Amino acid sequence: MTVNLESPEALFPRDLEAEILRLKEERSAVLLAHYYQEDEVQELADFVGDSLALAQHAKNVERDVIVFCGVHFMAETAKILNPERRVVVPDLDAGCSLADGCPPDAFQQFKDEHPGAKVLTYINCSAEVKALSDLICTSSNAVAMAQEFQGEPLILAPDRHLARWIAQQLGRDDLIVWPGSCIVHEQFSARELSKLRVRRRDAEVLAHPECDAAVLEQADFIGSTSKIIARSVESSADTLIIATEDGVFHQIEKQLARAGKRKELLQAPGMDESCACNRCPYMRLNTLEKLYLCLRDLEPEVTVPEPIRLRALQPIERMLALSGPV
Ligand code: 13P
Ligand code: SF4
Repeated sequence: MTVNLESPEALFPRDLEAEILRLKEERSAVLLAHYYQEDEVQELADFVGDSLALAQHAKNVERDVIVFCGVHFMAETAKILNPERRVVVPDLDAGCSLADGCPPDAFQQFKDEHPGAKVLTYINCSAEVKALSDLICTSSNAVAMAQEFQGEPLILAPDRHLARWIAQQLGRDDLIVWPGSCIVHEQFSARELSKLRVRRRDAEVLAHPECDAAVLEQADFIGSTSKIIARSVESSADTLIIATEDGVFHQIEKQLARAGKRKELLQAPGMDESCACNRCPYMRLNTLEKLYLCLRDLEPEVTVPEPIRLRALQPIERMLALSGPV
């Protein structure tokens, strides 16, 4: 290893990517990354996917270490499913506004206020909240998971926008909804989007179900990150307006190139055009430098107390069983 002593961070090797790949082998590690990671992190990963695919993949990892480039609840889910592995993350502060906005004590109280209701929880929550749930869902399978509770009182947490979309799909107006939201998806502007659609009548609008209802109403296609990526390639439209985190553009461009297609990709406008609010501030805490340190030191580790892990495992396993094979 050549250490660059002229660099202000003499800590870091000159060829960071090569050193990360070398350490990955030395540590018997697998690098899993979500689509919202920086392009260079996605390029180094052994597997890139959406929340569901990452959980399915993490469960089957046989190497000693899982390096999870995503947010905390995703790494925690990997630990719950595959407790024999050491799970590490580049930055322990990579949280999520949905998970942070649903503290376990307050959620227990919410449950107590609705005795008899079943609980379907979006995977974007803590292990403790998962342990209080009957079933987990992701944006890929949310409607199918909610169908498991037809005719039963049902709590949906913690994303109110996803919950409203599920209710619409199922024709239910009785869902009990925890009022959380995603700071990234909530910032897309329905007003600016409608102006853009007038200028670009040929464009297809693709949106993640965490977006506000006024944005979803204008979408031609609504789906998880992996479904948005697949639809972007399959769509016959030459221009796509995309309402989700900016990281998906990297995979869309790669897959379009592989399919020999070219399309104009536009980001859905935000409410504040002066900020890069379409980049998740939590996901983007994971840099190549932190990834290198994390592989070198095998820290910071993500752990889950065993009693919570065992209770959280049940609703996750139930989701995986209902979602079919990888
Ligand atoms: P996906 O389930 O589409 O991966 O979304 C996860 C997420 O955090 C969306 O903001
Ligand atoms: Fe959480 Fe939103 Fe970031 Fe996804 S994009 S991890 S829901 S804050």
